[in-house]
Amino acid sequence: MIYMDYNATAPVHPEVLEAILPFYREQFGNPSSIHWAGRMVKGAVEEAREETAALVGCAPSEIVFTSCGSESDNMAIKGTASALRNRGNHIITTAVEHPAVLNTCLYLEHQGFRITRLPVNREGLIDMNELQAAITAETVLVSAMFANNETGVIFPVASIGAICRERGVPFHCDAVQAVGKVPVDCRGMEIGLLSLSGHKLGAPKGIGALVVRKGMKLHPLIHGGAQERNRRAGTENVAGIVALGKACRIARDEMAGGAARVGGLRDRLEKGIMALFPQARLNGHREKRLTTTANISFTGLEADSLLLNLDLAGIAVSSGSACSSGTLKSSPVLAAMGVDPAAAKGSIRFSLGRLNTDADVDHVLRVLPEIIERLQKK
Ligand SMILES: Cc1ncc(COP(=O)(O)O)c(C=O)c1O
Repeated sequence: MIYMDYNATAPVHPEVLEAILPFYREQFGNPSSIHWAGRMVKGAVEEAREETAALVGCAPSEIVFTSCGSESDNMAIKGTASALRNRGNHIITTAVEHPAVLNTCLYLEHQGFRITRLPVNREGLIDMNELQAAITAETVLVSAMFANNETGVIFPVASIGAICRERGVPFHCDAVQAVGKVPVDCRGMEIGLLSLSGHKLGAPKGIGALVVRKGMKLHPLIHGGAQERNRRAGTENVAGIVALGKACRIARDEMAGGAARVGGLRDRLEKGIMALFPQARLNGHREKRLTTTANISFTGLEADSLLLNLDLAGIAVSSGSACSSGTLKSSPVLAAMGVDPAAAKGSIRFSLGRLNTDADVDHVLRVLPEIIERLQKK
């Protein structure tokens, strides 16, 4: 079995699993309790907060643990919209955000907010002049992602941060696909709010975080107790938090080496595919993207058939297209990039990670020609 769908989720790191087991056994306390059982876990939560903060360049007190990346995105956008409603009702985002951002903005649009969705060019990048021009006195938030989940394209986050600071507009960055893969620095990149998700970097599903930099005005999404400095009520997911801290620690140690190694595999996979199938086209900027991701259009083929056949051969990848009401709808991200619909319908995302090897790439390149040939005959 070969797994090349790391952008969907990554396997739990064995050291992370080891680190969290005690929190399902003897270290069961509630961190809000003042007795020994509570104290036992409180320290672990705070240590994880420090590790998480260290990976993304913020203060530990600026980390709010959440349940996932989607919750972090919702909290950042709805929380800011609610807190700054009196200042204005305009939000700027981009056409290629994850549904956790796009659908949250759509919800606010129905609530009376005006949403600007910045277009992207053929390489998946926004135009900084268009961002500048879109900001008005009514703008209460710019939400732009760090790295795209489908193409891996990396936005010029520091430049977006600088523009937002200059214009006095809060900047939220969905960095779910970037954290643990590329350096992320909230301070240096002037990011006010940053979303991340544990299951993309070796922690289990069900844990995420939102960085809320000092001075950001934000209403909570979940009301209740005083956990997370009154920003997010609910008894903490202690094991999840410890897992995220450990995964962040490992990422800090291994990120640079891992990105280079996986990048080598990804490049070899891409080259191999281009040689096998000359009609194949790479989607997204060639350099400004994650070293882990390859989004390739197999023009003339249907992505879902390709995906199914790869799955039968034990290879897990993903397609950007989704079948809705019997018709194959191609990815909104590729559509926003102006990828020809026929090419978009044949697009497959390979996203590699820690456990992939040279042998995996060899295997994919060995089984692909037969699959392509079979599908072309249909
Ligand atoms: C860019 C991006 N944002 C947000 C999310 C949502 O994260 P979660 O699955 O933790 O809710 C994802 C998940 O794929 C993502 O890729």
